[in-house]
Amino acid sequence: MEQTYIMIKPDGVQRGLVGNIISRFEQKGFFLRGLKIITVDRALAEKHYADLSAKPFFNGLVDYIISGPVVAMVWEGKGVVTTGRKIIGATNPAESAPGTIRGDFAIDIGRNVIHGSDSVESARKEIALWFPEGTVNWQSNAH
Ligand code: CMP
Repeated sequence: MEQTYIMIKPDGVQRGLVGNIISRFEQKGFFLRGLKIITVDRALAEKHYADLSAKPFFNGLVDYIISGPVVAMVWEGKGVVTTGRKIIGATNPAESAPGTIRGDFAIDIGRNVIHGSDSVESARKEIALWFPEGTVNWQSNAH
């Protein structure tokens, strides 16, 4: 079954949005397979955003991600990569529709509350990076 990596960024954690965000994914019908709160070091943040290393905002982005704890999650379900990004809304909160997470909670692209993998391939890489210990195998826990 398809999985995606979803991360509530430090601003989302500090503003108390964790429960609301988790509810939106649960209510849609997706399954939570991994969850942890973690303050990451610069090396992990730089690896996560390696594709953006040439961008002028890269250092600021990394500073932001390591500025406080993030909530790292793996969500699973049919079409969860694409649908998850619809739930999150456009990267720039100025363009994200009301009803999406960023549309409801963010104003600034540099403080956009949440990250979601942009493809199945990115999801695979990001889950391996953030959950090297692995995630819950639902089947083996269902009794
Ligand atoms: P995210 O979905 O985590 O993927 C890349 C991140 O880069 C994005 O959310 C934003 O937080 C950040 N980002 C993208 N464009 C800009 C920008 N112009 N200025 C600052 N941050 C940006």
